[in-house]
Amino acid sequence: MTTNLERPRWVADGALGAGRLRFGADYNPEQWPREVWAEDMRLMREAGVNIVSLGIFSWALLEPRPGEWDFGWLDEVMDLLHENGIDVDLATATASPPPWLTRRHPEVLPQTADGTVLWPGARQHWRPTSPVFRRYSLRLVRALAERYGDHPALVAWHVSNELGCHNIYDYSDDAAAAFRVWLQERYGSLDALNAAWGTAFWSQHYEEWDEILPPRVAPTQRNPGQQLDFERFSSDAVREQLRAEGAVLREITPDIPYTTNFMVAQNVRDIDYVSWAPDVDFVSNDHYLRPGELGRDDLSFWANLTGNIAEGRPWFLMEHAASAVNWRDVNPPKREGELVRDALTHVGHGADAVCYFQWRQSRAGGERYHSGMLPHAGSDSRVFRDVVRLGSELSAISAVTGSRREPARVAVLFDYTSWWVSGRDSHPTESVSYDAEALAWYRALLDLGVRADVRPASAEFDGYEVLVAPMLHVVTRELRARLEAFVEAGGHLVTTYFSGTVDEHDRVWLGGYPGALRDLVGVTVEEFVPLLADERAGLASGAIAEHWTERITHTGADVEVLDTYLGGDLDGAPAVTRRRTRAGGTATYVSADIGRAGAHGVLRALAVEVDALAADPLAADGRVEVIVRTADDARFVFLANRTDESVLLDVDGETVGGVRADDTGAVSLPPRAVAVLRAARESAPARRDDVVRESPRQPERV
Ligand code: GAL
Repeated sequence: MTTNLERPRWVADGALGAGRLRFGADYNPEQWPREVWAEDMRLMREAGVNIVSLGIFSWALLEPRPGEWDFGWLDEVMDLLHENGIDVDLATATASPPPWLTRRHPEVLPQTADGTVLWPGARQHWRPTSPVFRRYSLRLVRALAERYGDHPALVAWHVSNELGCHNIYDYSDDAAAAFRVWLQERYGSLDALNAAWGTAFWSQHYEEWDEILPPRVAPTQRNPGQQLDFERFSSDAVREQLRAEGAVLREITPDIPYTTNFMVAQNVRDIDYVSWAPDVDFVSNDHYLRPGELGRDDLSFWANLTGNIAEGRPWFLMEHAASAVNWRDVNPPKREGELVRDALTHVGHGADAVCYFQWRQSRAGGERYHSGMLPHAGSDSRVFRDVVRLGSELSAISAVTGSRREPARVAVLFDYTSWWVSGRDSHPTESVSYDAEALAWYRALLDLGVRADVRPASAEFDGYEVLVAPMLHVVTRELRARLEAFVEAGGHLVTTYFSGTVDEHDRVWLGGYPGALRDLVGVTVEEFVPLLADERAGLASGAIAEHWTERITHTGADVEVLDTYLGGDLDGAPAVTRRRTRAGGTATYVSADIGRAGAHGVLRALAVEVDALAADPLAADGRVEVIVRTADDARFVFLANRTDESVLLDVDGETVGGVRADDTGAVSLPPRAVAVLRAARESAPARRDDVVRESPRQPERV
């Protein structure tokens, strides 16, 4: 595998936008006759589209037979877009191999854990580790780079598409061979590997590298260390395709930046995007709204994490849906206001581009019921009118382009390895979930009107006063040392059940839970006490625990008990504790799944002494999310209504986007609406003491 690849240049802030926010979509003109292209251009101009991602699934048309190219139609489309002032993020088109390739080389097809071959007929039917696929795909990348490298419409390369979305886990013989090489690089010796995986258990000891396989379907619970390393390996193996394509692009078009669209959100949890970020010139992400009550906050959570993965630099929202998707059990359309709200929330979290999958809703194929910016009904439709409105909203706030996310003082830590490992089989319960726990604490902070970053646990903690680390399950010595230093220096840590439990090989830290964090939080847990589906545990504060409780048996002298279990086997035992350091830092430990409501109580108790947890008046008692970007001379404050009620705020700054203030400085935010304020950089966000007024009954769009 490629190692020590030089970190590519990050694109200078704002350079990609060229002074304006980017607005566009995946554009698939090959699905339509030429006469439709002219209408596309007219309607794209009407909507204010200024960029499209092109050619993502075009390999079979670009190379209809091995080594024979048909670029004619793409030349035409590139020229047409350029004539219409629309730039191109050109795909390397390697996402979906053509039928001729898999017919000649069935050995590129991936295999599932039980040996099932994933046949052509959908997309992404290739093994990340296949040398054959690599050879053919790089030939295509080279051909495209040579042909279009100088085209005036080209502003960026779009490597493949959602790498690993359907093929991240391949258990084929190619994968087995590559896995062994990866393991040799990681461990150096079989002794080290045997120790890391604990292979003395169940007679799994390895004497030769060739004995090692991917964790294929086995009679019962598979080795956890092997599973974890296979997850790491698989994330790295897919990244190799990104690196290989990137190297060709860099060689031929050194001045054109490249990206690949991450799936930081819920779809695929198996890629460690923190480790991928240095491999792209700018980060881009795809997000699809989760329907229902938690959808908006979920969107904010992942947008926030993406902004932090991008290290605060502007990034691209490469895909989201103008309305319904087609791949959930039920796919409702977006509700009134959501299209603009979702877009502006992403911009608030640092996106300099708002792009959709896709421009024109397909007529045929598996995604024909997935919305597009231009729906089956045509341009005289609610969705297209909203799209046009969004285009003008984005152009009104073009001054935001290139500004950075302003770091908060509070962070929710997010750790991919903890996500993977805490969800493993053979655990005390399957009913707790890492991302749900992280989202619950993030939502609790939003409810209290506190702005928080969602920050990779591997990133620096400098500048933060409070770290919330929900279910930080995997804690290495290095992470423990950083958390200890944070608290020793006066920082405030809140962590929850099942944290600190295992090391980087999923081996349990001994001496009692929470293992690596035991000294830091000052408590010892002897037993996990998971709850059955219909069981609940009450706490003295009134909080209710579901799914998980713990038996804390020892607390240090410097630890106060903030809450206790009430009733049941744990009656009177500590449930929530806090250790204090001499420098004034604290480490709070929450031993139960007390959910968002319980988190309110814990955070409120800490807020009494920690300024960083004070509510922002602009948050209107948690009804509004406050998001901030800063430029050299200005501060942009995005105010997103989290509720289905209208919210009335008084603001001093100038409203430059979304809902505008009236002459008295009042902003009436209808349900799901966003306002964008501009304030001078030096000043704190403009606000008055009584920013929250009583909301009017009948929300009105301003
Ligand atoms: C993404 C993918 C797009 C499209 C979209 C539909 O995963 O990149 O090509 O399939 O989902 O939601």
